[in-house]
Amino acid sequence: MKFIKATQLKDKPDATKLKFGQLFTDYMLEMNYENGQWGEPVISPYHDLVLAPESMILHYGQGIFEGAKAFRNDEGKIILFRLMDNLKRLNLSAERMCMPQMDTDKVMGYILELIDIERDWVPSSPETSLYLRPTMIATEKAVGVHASNSYKFFVILSPVGPYINGFNNPAKIYVEDTYTRAAVGGTGEAKCVGNYAGSILAAHKAKAKGYNEVLWLDAKDRQYIEEVGAMNVMFVVDGEIITPTLTGSILRGITRDSIIKMMRDIGYTVREERININDLIKWYDEGRVTEMFGCGTAAVVSPVGTLTYKDKVCVFNNGKSGPVARVAFDRLDDIRKLRVPDKYGWITVLGK
Ligand code: PLP
Ligand code: COI
Repeated sequence: MKFIKATQLKDKPDATKLKFGQLFTDYMLEMNYENGQWGEPVISPYHDLVLAPESMILHYGQGIFEGAKAFRNDEGKIILFRLMDNLKRLNLSAERMCMPQMDTDKVMGYILELIDIERDWVPSSPETSLYLRPTMIATEKAVGVHASNSYKFFVILSPVGPYINGFNNPAKIYVEDTYTRAAVGGTGEAKCVGNYAGSILAAHKAKAKGYNEVLWLDAKDRQYIEEVGAMNVMFVVDGEIITPTLTGSILRGITRDSIIKMMRDIGYTVREERININDLIKWYDEGRVTEMFGCGTAAVVSPVGTLTYKDKVCVFNNGKSGPVARVAFDRLDDIRKLRVPDKYGWITVLGK
């Protein structure tokens, strides 16, 4: 590992005022892939990237990324949550996008070194963390469509607050019925840059009407609930938790997986199934749907107050965050801050 020291460090922000993804720390990690292999990792002061205008990422979007978090717990320990699972998913995305695999153990080690250097940037206020953005982009200088022969992997770090509104301000979600995000056989399951580019117009229009995000329906039948822009979704129906099954077109959310396991262990029934939006509305009208919430690394557990589909507005738990979302949020927070033992093997304590 090569380390280039910064001559000047930035001032740390007021942790109680953090927004999402606007500030970045002093250092970043970089590693280049050329001639079929990854080169030496370098940690250097945060800087702009210099790319030739014909770099392939700029034209054909061979780009993938991850989102993970480091937390500071009540005893001041720095804790990484399921980082290895993010790196494994990065490799799955790389496979789908015809990009090179990484050695997850080595990369995990490099990222831990970076976080160790940046440990003073990990905030401790409620709903704050240090967000990690591992990213891989195609850097070959060529304009023909093919798999790039060179890549850059980098990791930047950002001290963050809530992604949407925070736990106590439930989101307003619009069910998108014009645009779709991903079809089975496409790239929906990969965390690739194009998935997000294609989703911005719908979210932009929804935001103009006062919504926070859109809920995507499947691209074939336009009836089955998929996910929200940056989170998987869960509903509480008859006291049970249901969440869309993984069909290949939605992201295999790590928070989704964590909540399914944790909530089952607490005693909740959690079912993964295809959820038809018309059935959901019928159940809602029958008074059976008591909560909806989104879940994701950035979004954590984000209660949804209203869901609008065409002219129908469903209001969950009187528009307030609900008790099941609270249990999921608290349980996740307890595990990530090691207030309860980590029986799942999800935690890495820095320096241990
Ligand atoms: N769905 C999409 C489209 C996302 O971007 C994210 C965020 O990463 C999620 C779901 C939630 O996934 P995870 O819990 O792994 O962050
Ligand atoms: C995350 O939750 O880490 C994400 O990647 C969502 C993001 C698009 C902000």
